[in-house]
Amino acid sequence: MIIRPTIVVLLAVVTTAIASPSRSRDRGLTFHANNAVPGYEFAQAPDGKALYEENCRKCHGVKGTPPKAIKEKFPKVQMLDDVFLAKVNDDSLVKIMTKGVGKAEDMKSFKDKMTPVEMAAVAKYIREFAKPKGSSTL
Ligand code: HEC
Repeated sequence: MIIRPTIVVLLAVVTTAIASPSRSRDRGLTFHANNAVPGYEFAQAPDGKALYEENCRKCHGVKGTPPKAIKEKFPKVQMLDDVFLAKVNDDSLVKIMTKGVGKAEDMKSFKDKMTPVEMAAVAKYIREFAKPKGSSTL
């Protein structure tokens, strides 16, 4: 019997076609795809912590306290603590990053490395160093 397998395959195809109302399924998928867009944009906001760690941590330390070796090399390196942060607003911090501080070998300008929006994200992250331990970061 050669005909039998052919019939089985045909039956399977017909059954699948009837059993799947593909239109409503497609609509479901489209709905999800549209919903994903705002989440995607949100994920693109600059990550102040990552930028700080890449550009500043080497000299200013993980939480704003410069490592000993850096203090020896740059005696004037600024401690980014609550006392200092009370004196500067976010705009000043962005200006400091844009212009650099002291001589070129001290703290150079970051204007070729970061956009103003990224610098503002770094400034926001630095603010958290001034908060008491255990307080919410939000
Ligand atoms: C190569 C080491 C180095 C790196 C990297 C560095 N800094 Fe500095 N920073 C310094 C030194 C040194 C000073 C003090 C300069 C002076 O007073 O002459 C300073 C000073 C500062 C001050 C105080 C400025 C003032 O007016 O009192 C701030 C705020 C600051 N840095 C933030 C940052 C941020 C934010 C980053 C990363 C984007 C960064 N620094 C990266 C070395 C560095």
